[in-house]
Amino acid sequence: MTLNSGEIMSQELTSRLSGFYNHSLEERLQIIAQSAQLTNDEARSLISESLSPQHADNMIENVVGVYALPLGIATNFIVNGREVLVPMVIEEPSVVAGASFAAKLARAGGGFIATTDEPIMIGQIQLIGIVDPWAAKGDILAHKEELLTTANQVDPVLVNLGGGARDVQVRILDTSPPMLALHLLYDVRDAMGANAINTACERLAPMLEAITGGRVLLRILSNLADQRLARARVIIPEMALAFGEFSGTDVAQGIEQAWRFAAADAYRATTHNKGIMNGVDAVVIATGNDWRAIEAGAHAYAARDGRYTSLSTWRRDGQGNLVGTLEMPMALGIVGGSTRVHPTARVALKILDVRTARELSEIVVSVGLAQNLAAIRALATEGIQKGHMNLHARQVAIAAGATGEDVTRIADAMIREGTIRIDRAEALLNNPVEA
Ligand code: MEV
Repeated sequence: MTLNSGEIMSQELTSRLSGFYNHSLEERLQIIAQSAQLTNDEARSLISESLSPQHADNMIENVVGVYALPLGIATNFIVNGREVLVPMVIEEPSVVAGASFAAKLARAGGGFIATTDEPIMIGQIQLIGIVDPWAAKGDILAHKEELLTTANQVDPVLVNLGGGARDVQVRILDTSPPMLALHLLYDVRDAMGANAINTACERLAPMLEAITGGRVLLRILSNLADQRLARARVIIPEMALAFGEFSGTDVAQGIEQAWRFAAADAYRATTHNKGIMNGVDAVVIATGNDWRAIEAGAHAYAARDGRYTSLSTWRRDGQGNLVGTLEMPMALGIVGGSTRVHPTARVALKILDVRTARELSEIVVSVGLAQNLAAIRALATEGIQKGHMNLHARQVAIAAGATGEDVTRIADAMIREGTIRIDRAEALLNNPVEA
């Protein structure tokens, strides 16, 4: 691929890239490179010069290689009035297409409206060996200002950027013998914040032992980042949902019923939320963020009232609209971690064109809501298998050993027959006449 920076067109960005799917991989890359004004090196890093083994060797231990995953671009997104192209890293077929399709439906109502809390993380300090937990709590709170000042000495750069320690809370846990959990609330600005908060918690430990006479054991952030929530909302006119034999009202009713199922039943809620995480994780991974942290926080938040339920809501508003919402913890960074180290994550952030971690979170929560809409719309109407079959059949053909033109030939034959199985793909590979 040759990209000449002189050829990069300056044009109004739209994420509505009609027919993007039908272009070749190279053409798609060219379109994205132009839209996001990627340099040649950045564009090339998406296809051939991504994470080097040497780079990887500096990221984790005992490195012997690099593991690649597909990176696709979800189109059609408007978040808070801004057109956004969304990089998604995922191995599962239909997810990128589903997000793009749902974002197109959302455009009929102006796209997604998203908000976030201040980027406050919770650090936990466990205090054991406490004789009188109520007295210890009072003593700790009496020293709150000193504790906050000490915590702020850990990262003066973060404090200069407007972040830093915000509050100290003490929880008496229902254990025998008694145990305290001190929560340090820390504004981490544009970082995910694990390092800043863990260091601050470690720094406070000796002070807390001196104040309480107890012993500090664990000092670690909580992934239940419920002070750092992201919310997305979408309003879609029912008529925009109509397709085939389904009226817009049929589809909206089906989606509402699908949500009711998830809201009432943990077995369904788990799968419903998995659909949300298909979208969320794919962008979290593309931007080099910690998707295990996001997963852990999401599912704990889904069970915050003691019963696991849906993270999203879907209702008809009585005025001819379907209204969807999603709220979940979103501890994401655009600095620190591998966000700026991994070359592809850097490019993904450039494509997203975000200036703050909060802006990234607002996009990610919108993608989660879009993904949820795509899944339950399909489930409540024609089922998901239809949309899945094409890429699934190709994967099965490849797994059976097909390469080049054989992949399409065998996949098409299996779709025609309605039998998409590895043994059938192997038989078709060994007997080309049949396919
Ligand atoms: C598949 O990866 C995700 C779905 O199961 C989500 C859902 O059931 O809502 C389709």
